[in-house]
Amino acid sequence: MSGLDIGSPDVVVLELKSDTRCIVHLFGATVVSWIRKGEECIFLSSKAKFDNKSAIRGGIPIVFPCFGPWAHGPQHGFARNSLWTLTTPPTKCEDGTMSATFSLADNEITRQMWDYKFKLHYNVVLSDDSLKTSLTVENTDSRPFTFTCLLHTYLRTQDLSNTFITNLKGCTYADKTKDGTLTLEDRDLVPIDRFIDYTYANTGEKHTVKGVTNNASILLKKENFPDLVVWNPWKEKASQMSDLSGYENMVCVEPGYVNNAYMIGASEKFTATQILTVVPNA
Ligand code: BG6
Repeated sequence: MSGLDIGSPDVVVLELKSDTRCIVHLFGATVVSWIRKGEECIFLSSKAKFDNKSAIRGGIPIVFPCFGPWAHGPQHGFARNSLWTLTTPPTKCEDGTMSATFSLADNEITRQMWDYKFKLHYNVVLSDDSLKTSLTVENTDSRPFTFTCLLHTYLRTQDLSNTFITNLKGCTYADKTKDGTLTLEDRDLVPIDRFIDYTYANTGEKHTVKGVTNNASILLKKENFPDLVVWNPWKEKASQMSDLSGYENMVCVEPGYVNNAYMIGASEKFTATQILTVVPNA
């Protein structure tokens, strides 16, 4: 699996069974692998860098406190470019799941870009058929602040010509391939057949990514993430990215709070969750 060193102290493995496990890298608290019944569900570029400097290309990078270009720091914010701490090591829970929690607090580097005190908590829960990831933003400052956030989920696909996303019909999206033109989605099933960079606003709680493997689809359930970004750079743009190989084996389906910024008061908390479940193809 690419340049990932599974023996590195920065790598945390949640193993439920010998064929069902999840790997999280402390750099960005990035989920880099989710193997369910022996099958990898997450895309990780074989050119992904593990230098603890560049965001990991693939997996589930965490976007915070800004989605997209950011005047104060790197694109998509600093959470995916920071080394997180493992606060609760992988633990078998009473319900049979494996859970681990990671955290990131403000520090000198984050405050230089964005002068607020905060704490992020990221809980990863692995069960037989699902991977649940919950992001909590805690405002530990004495002032309110605003942020956008997103889980930049790279799903692994075997055949993009058979990959479709459901439940977007009737939603409006900003088409970043056309300077952000607002467009009404009129398709029942959205195919991944070209360069796509769509930010859908206020979508439903559940989307199925059909045909991820020959036999299975992924049901993506989101809580408190109103929006959904769908991205694939396609051939030409992928070739310009030094760390991306295999655009034809991935689709990014990214639940987020991005269309409007979230305002969080002092001492308040905000939690949003993504649950990925492998389901048989309908
Ligand atoms: C998506 C954005 O979420 O992430 C795209 O909508 C962006 O515009 C893509 O190109 C990848 O971003 P990055 O910073 O990881 O190359």
